[in-house]
Amino acid sequence: MATLNSLRIPALFLFTLLLGTDAYFYSRQSECHFSSNDLHDLEYIDRLLFNKLEFMRYNSTLNKFIGYTELGVKNAEIWNTDGTVERWHKDLDGYCRHNDGIYSTAILDKKNIPKPTIKIRSASHSSHKHTSMLVCSAYDFYPRGIKLTWLRDGKEVTHDVTSTEELANGNWLYQIHSHLEYTPKSGETISCRVEHASLPKGKEVKWDPNISEVKRNKVIIGASGLVLGLIITIAGVVYYKKKSTGRILVPSS
Ligand SMILES: *[C@@H]1O[C@H](CO)[C@@H](O)[C@H](O)[C@H]1NC(C)=O
Repeated sequence: MATLNSLRIPALFLFTLLLGTDAYFYSRQSECHFSSNDLHDLEYIDRLLFNKLEFMRYNSTLNKFIGYTELGVKNAEIWNTDGTVERWHKDLDGYCRHNDGIYSTAILDKKNIPKPTIKIRSASHSSHKHTSMLVCSAYDFYPRGIKLTWLRDGKEVTHDVTSTEELANGNWLYQIHSHLEYTPKSGETISCRVEHASLPKGKEVKWDPNISEVKRNKVIIGASGLVLGLIITIAGVVYYKKKSTGRILVPSS
């Protein structure tokens, strides 16, 4: 980036009132809402809150303050007529348009937003013997707005597909799981396509039944068991030999 414009904060500041041992919390929440990079639908919302209660709000689309409590209503009346509203309106450009332009180029266009980790696994499905169940999971993406599609030999599958919602992890990131129920055919390819803002070209993950996680785990567990058994056997044989030679040595001395 050639020149980095610095971000701005609105003309007023956030402050806290501390009275006695109890704390009263006054806060101001400045929001810039927009849905596209050209910012054509930019809206500046500024909420004034006291102890979690929003008592007044500035809305740039209305270019008005709206009161929600007696204090808020009275104050909104004054601020809507004494020129305050014109000063706040300046923040639509000075704060929102200015900063959002920076966020758009620095964050959205560079695609440095959390990309999903994609995994396909088979899930056991006991009710039907002939059908299998695959689960395509996308983990740790942000923001919301993802699309998972199942492809069978390159063709989109719409039947027997169920999906969870986009589930919030609680750390700003989301996950989603899509289930496909199908009857396996030999030689077919099944893949899961993921579309998300962080993946400009989308991403396709192929299901490889040969190295399914369950199978691999079984092989690992089996091999580990074999090795462990071998070690125990060898140790037992060595111990037995040592002991038996020791016994032989005792009467001969
Ligand atoms: C702001 O006002 C516009 C016009 O009435 C309305 O559509 C929009 O929902 C308001 N935004 C908020 C966050 O209150």
